[in-house]
Amino acid sequence: MTHWTDDFFTGYWSVMQKAAPMSGVAAEEARVLRKILRLRKGSKVADVPCGDGRISLELARAGCRVVGVDACEPSVRRARREFRKAGLPGALHLGDMRDLQLPREFNAVINWWGSFGYFDEDTNRRVLKGFADILLPGGRVLVDQVNRERILRQFMKKGVFKYGEVKVTTRNRWDAKRQRINGSWLFERGGRRARRRSSIRLYTPSQMEALMESAGLTLERICDGTTGLPFTRGSQRMSTVGRRL
Ligand SMILES: C[S@@+](CC[C@H](N)C(=O)[O-])C[C@H]1O[C@@H](n2cnc3c(N)ncnc32)[C@H](O)[C@@H]1O
Repeated sequence: MTHWTDDFFTGYWSVMQKAAPMSGVAAEEARVLRKILRLRKGSKVADVPCGDGRISLELARAGCRVVGVDACEPSVRRARREFRKAGLPGALHLGDMRDLQLPREFNAVINWWGSFGYFDEDTNRRVLKGFADILLPGGRVLVDQVNRERILRQFMKKGVFKYGEVKVTTRNRWDAKRQRINGSWLFERGGRRARRRSSIRLYTPSQMEALMESAGLTLERICDGTTGLPFTRGSQRMSTVGRRL
């Protein structure tokens, strides 16, 4: 059976990602992440999914030993190219976060920038358990999502954005029963267009705490991962940190 993630992140998304504002903020995001997760030189970090490696690269620059995993082949290729260009060590793998083929040797797992909640309830739980399973004792998992309360309060049914040459028109619907934000995306570039769908489960803080516990993790903190500030109803992001004892 196909899943929306099978073709969403290839093609137009990856072109858009290069031109989007997030490509310029990776260094600052990685700085805050290092602080939240108490990463040091030599810390072993799994960045899952790593996309085009923007965060992995900054962590590697700071001396972390990074393994990145992503299911999008063009993104992984780009990440490898950027590491080579920068002359930095790092392992970038094509892989599926639902079935991580990594040993238990990490000080931290980062699931950054709205990369959680893509699947059904059981699978999302399994993904988090997979992260917990590759942590050393004392290791931390950080899962970053949008702040659901804020998103629902300022719900944007339609949005039109321009990232470089790509125009994106999104239509969003909140599925209150399944607690998912369902998106319909129209990408347009030079007279060509493509439609894609997305569906993301948005969790409350207490639901994330329960998920962490079911994965064998202890909730350490919930904050806005872009600033490190405590989580409030006005925060842009909700970043949940769990620790393996
Ligand atoms: C919103 S992007 C975030 C990427 C990266 N964390 C960042 O901050 O740039 C989500 C990523 O999830 C990847 N992805 C989607 N489904 C996946 C799966 N099953 N396994 C691994 N990666 C997946 C996509 O290819 C995409 O690169």
